[in-house]
Amino acid sequence: MRPKADRDRVWQELDTLASLSDAEPPAVTRVVFSETDLRARRFFKDRCAAAGLELREDAVGNTFARWRGSAPELPAVATGSHIDAIPNAGRFDGTVGVFGGLEAVRSLQAAGFRPRRSIDVIMFTSEEPTRFGLGCLGSRLMSGVLDAQADKRLRDGDGRTLEDVRGRAGFSGSLETVHLGEDACSSFVELHIEQGPLLERAGDDIGIVTAIAAPASFRLFIEGQGGHAGAVLMPDRHDAFLAAAEIALTLESNVRALGAIDTVGTVGVCEVFPGAINSIPSRVRLEVDVRDIDPDRRDNVLRHTEEAGRLVAERRGVTVRGEVINMDPPATCATEIVEAVASACAARGLKSQRMISRAYHDSLFMARIAPTGMIFIPCRDGISHRPDEYASPRRHRQRRRGPGGCAGATCEVIGVGGHLKRTLCVIPTGALLK
Ligand code: GLV
Ligand code: MN
Ligand code: MN
Repeated sequence: MRPKADRDRVWQELDTLASLSDAEPPAVTRVVFSETDLRARRFFKDRCAAAGLELREDAVGNTFARWRGSAPELPAVATGSHIDAIPNAGRFDGTVGVFGGLEAVRSLQAAGFRPRRSIDVIMFTSEEPTRFGLGCLGSRLMSGVLDAQADKRLRDGDGRTLEDVRGRAGFSGSLETVHLGEDACSSFVELHIEQGPLLERAGDDIGIVTAIAAPASFRLFIEGQGGHAGAVLMPDRHDAFLAAAEIALTLESNVRALGAIDTVGTVGVCEVFPGAINSIPSRVRLEVDVRDIDPDRRDNVLRHTEEAGRLVAERRGVTVRGEVINMDPPATCATEIVEAVASACAARGLKSQRMISRAYHDSLFMARIAPTGMIFIPCRDGISHRPDEYASPRRHRQRRRGPGGCAGATCEVIGVGGHLKRTLCVIPTGALLK
């Protein structure tokens, strides 16, 4: 059996999905439970229904599209990713794994394959932390890492609870019911763009993920004294923003001083109050993201940043308060999946390399309840979380840039002669379905 992906179909689906966005093209913004997200969910569900898959949505909106196997009592093989997109993002992050998974199922159907185990294509809710501040909401709940109290605890920027927001979106019931348990999935494979430059630089077709780095994030609330930007003399100031700036720079130098390529630190949010040009900032909220494959090294950075906060607070006469959002351990991919991907690549002459994922994914949490693996495809210049994110369907050596860059090239289609057809379809037909 030689399943064949329909590249035009996947490309058109990614194209339609990209048009369901709250940003001007080519940028994509699709925040969880927004009207746009709900329309995109509808689109995915319609496509799944057209493929004859059985749909189930849980209380937080994780969506399972099942191709029922001849032994439906066995734990299912699952694949999938997310369709929510951070503000001003691109069109491939997450979406490739959702529609690629669906295409794998359709091409297996078309090839006459009949699965013994059921196959689930999962669309996870809110992999991105945009709305509720916490990434991988759906998969955290599925794996039992996040407790049901999060429903009342997590709030969006308008102060609405998760419970309220998901209820309005049509998802009700206790979050406890989202927890899947360890026998729901026999294995999980996520296809994703690499979001880094290594595959492209090496001229490789496929990244075989062996581990996912440990992410941590926290908020810092800095309180100083506001006042008139003209009248308050410099020696008398307790400027909350300047204190925040020092802390951010200290974070950067702490991370760099480690000299480890796998340690990264980012201040992605800096909210300044009152935000007027002629007013000294009295309050600042920073949101900080630190990641490492070595959790001890990451935690060291966190401790040093905390210490920097204390020193800066003392020296500048401000207060600094911290609040941890998440501190997750790293995940290791299952050897049998790593080997299945490697042999699928070898069998099809695809150049591959084993690598870690520095980005986090729903796989980080699925790995807690099922043997899990990830397949990376290259993305142009390693760019992601930007409108010019682009993944080509062509193998590295043959890849050409299409007219107009990221979305402009209609002939360069993901999954066509390349990665989805050769790899994603191969994996469920091989080792995992036994
Ligand atoms: C996921 O989007 C991440 O920030 O790694
Ligand atoms: Mn992302
Ligand atoms: Mn992603």
